Amino acid sequence: MENKLISAGILGLGSYVPEKIVTNDHIAKMVDTSHDWIVSRTGIEERRVASEDQSTSDISAIAAKRALEDANLNPEDIDLIILATLTPDMLIPSTACLVQSKIGAKNAAAFDLEAGCSGFVYGLTVARQFIATGMYKKVLVIGAEILSRMVDWEDRNTCILFGDGAGAAVVGPVEDGKGILSMTMGANGDGGKFLLIPAGGATQPASEQTIADRLHYIRMDGSEVFKFAVRTMGRASIEVIEKAGYKVEDIDFLVPHQANTRIINSAAKKLKLSDDKVYVNLNKYGNMSAASVPVALDEAVKLGKIKKDDLVVLVGFGAGLTWGSCLIKWNK
Ligand code: ACO
Repeated sequence: MENKLISAGILGLGSYVPEKIVTNDHIAKMVDTSHDWIVSRTGIEERRVASEDQSTSDISAIAAKRALEDANLNPEDIDLIILATLTPDMLIPSTACLVQSKIGAKNAAAFDLEAGCSGFVYGLTVARQFIATGMYKKVLVIGAEILSRMVDWEDRNTCILFGDGAGAAVVGPVEDGKGILSMTMGANGDGGKFLLIPAGGATQPASEQTIADRLHYIRMDGSEVFKFAVRTMGRASIEVIEKAGYKVEDIDFLVPHQANTRIINSAAKKLKLSDDKVYVNLNKYGNMSAASVPVALDEAVKLGKIKKDDLVVLVGFGAGLTWGSCLIKWNK
C-alpha cells in the first residue's frame, strides 16, 4: 500500500497582547537611553507588559482559545499542544501541560519547545510532521512569552528590546498543494553564548550569589546577534522558496521575526519585497520572541493583508542560535 503524506496548513489563528503599555520614555526614566535612540536603532516605540497575575500559560490560553474559535473547533478536538517559549511558567511541569488544563484540551498530548525566537516556526515544522504522517489530525502550536520577567531592567542593552504576548495556530490537514509547502530549521550552538540566561538551570542553580550577580536575566551580545540575523533571515527565506520550486518574485508576503526594523529591511531587500508586502508590528510590541511571528501572522491575516492562495514566507531567528523558515500557500 502506498504511504501518501498528508498536506498540512493553518486552520485558525489567535493572539493576545497584555493591556499595559510601556513606552520608550518610561524606560528612559529607568536606564540611560532615549526614545530617539531606541526608535532609530530598533524601530521599537512601545511594548506590552503582562500584569502581575498573568503568567505565560494564562496568555497562551487566551491566544489558544481564539485560534480554536477561528478554526471552529473545540478544545477536545486537539491531539497535541506544542508550546514554544523561553519564559515558561516554571521548570516543571511544562507550560504546554498547564495550558492543556486551562483550555480543557483533555485529549491532547503536550510539550514545550525551546528554540528562542525561532520557536513558533520550529513548532509548525514539528506539527506538520504529525499531520503529514496521519498520526494526529489537529495540533495547536503556541508561541508565548513573558519576557518582562526575564529582562534586567537595569541593562539598557536588553530591556529596551523585549515585550510580552502570545500567538497560536491550529494546524491540520488541507487540500494537496495548499498549506505548508516547504520548511527549514537550523542551529549553530557555537553562538549560544551570545544570547543566554546563565543561571537558574543545572549549570548554575539559583543561589544568593547568582541572584546578587543578576545571572537570572537575559544577557546578549547585540551586535553578534544582529550580524547573525542579517546573514540568516534572507538565506533561510530563499531556501524555502527554492525548495518549493518558486522564485523570490513569486512571493506575496513576508512575516518575519520582529526584532529590529534594520534586520527586517535587509531580509525584505533580499526577497525584493516592497514595504507593503512585509508585516511589521515591532513598533507597538517590541520583540516578543517566540510570540512575534504568530502575533504578526494573526494580525496580517485579520487585516486582510494575506489572502487565499497567497504565497507567504514566515522566518525567525533567535537564541541557540537558531533559525527557521517556512513557505505557506494560504489555504483559508
Ligand atoms: N540607549 C542608548 N545607547 C545605547 C543603548 C541604549 N538602549 N544600548 C546600547 N547603547 C550604546 C552602546 O553602549 C554603544 O555605545 P559605545 O559606542 O559608546 O560603546 C552604542 O550605543 C552602540 O551600540 P551597538 O550595540 O553597536 O548598537 P547597535 O546599533 O548594534 O544596536 C541593538 C544595538 C539594537 C541591540 C542591535 O544590535 C540589535 O538589534 N541586535 C539584535 C538583537 C536581537 O535581535 N536579539 C533578539 C534575538 S531573538 C531571541 O531569541 C530572544
